[in-house]
Amino acid sequence: MREEIISLLKKSSPDPLSGEVIARQLGISRTAVWKNIHALQEKGYNITGSPRRGYLLQKIPDLLYPGELGEKLHTKIIAPNPSFIHHYHRVGSTNNVLKEMAEEGAAEGTVVVAELQETGRGRMGRHWSSPQGKGIYLSLLLRPPVSPQHTSPLTLLAAAAACRGISSVLPRLLPGIKWPNDLLIGGRKVCGILCEIKAEIDLVHYLVAGIGINVNMAMEDFPSELRQSATSLLLENEGVVVSRLAVAAGVLQHFDELYAIYLEKGTASVLSRWREYDITLGRSIKVQGPGFSFTGTASELDDNGAIVVESETGERKSFTTGEVIMN
Ligand code: BTN
Repeated sequence: MREEIISLLKKSSPDPLSGEVIARQLGISRTAVWKNIHALQEKGYNITGSPRRGYLLQKIPDLLYPGELGEKLHTKIIAPNPSFIHHYHRVGSTNNVLKEMAEEGAAEGTVVVAELQETGRGRMGRHWSSPQGKGIYLSLLLRPPVSPQHTSPLTLLAAAAACRGISSVLPRLLPGIKWPNDLLIGGRKVCGILCEIKAEIDLVHYLVAGIGINVNMAMEDFPSELRQSATSLLLENEGVVVSRLAVAAGVLQHFDELYAIYLEKGTASVLSRWREYDITLGRSIKVQGPGFSFTGTASELDDNGAIVVESETGERKSFTTGEVIMN
């Protein structure tokens, strides 16, 4: 009912709509209208009411509500309708919530978004700082019909989708991707991606792609240890607040488009899109992970999205996982 009231108010805007008209159109009492308007105000919608003129929607909140997000999407696989989107004000980690849903049989394209994560997780077991209402914390569920060895391009796909989503809202910002999926602007990290998979040797049960974007963080919103290395869209946008709804919708829309291409045309089509944003190849880098470290020049991506590094002595190694440090 609330979604229907919002929809009527949006259609009527910038003119107010009387409680009587809303009640008649929705077949409810004026008291029910008033109660729902009150509930919407509690949810952050700025709706003013005057006894003579009626209700006027002044502003929708920049919260990632399914109705608002869904309204901006024209997707086929990822959140094809708002019922695929699950919004939380507070969670531990959106990846964890979605993994539980996946275990219970949630469909491909299910999305979990949150305003705050208490225990947001990053790659390599790190913490992901997730202050309330400042960032985008979202996870989406895939059930790709491929073997587990062929899923690593999906993490590159997520990075390319995030770049495209950001650029669709802020075309002046030029995010680049540090292999495999860190988005940097001006050398500072603005977005990270954590893909988690449940699979058997030759069967993928599901893959959860978790995307965290620093949107409206001021420098003091970051923990002090990140202030040298992190940035946000707000900081890169000359301090002008950025719509989280628009960016989240842009990312989901582009994810949907790239995933459809991946399913139809395969890995090479993803890698070429990833390369459009690459800032790693050709650079002198160190790749490190648990128990390994290798320094050299990032020479190419192999057919599966692994990075090939060539040392000074000519030794070549390819890595499917690891942390890249750029010299
Ligand atoms: C990284 O760069 O280390 C990856 C960060 C991934 C953060 C996102 S926020 C949404 C999702 N839920 C999590 O707990 N982590 C991912």
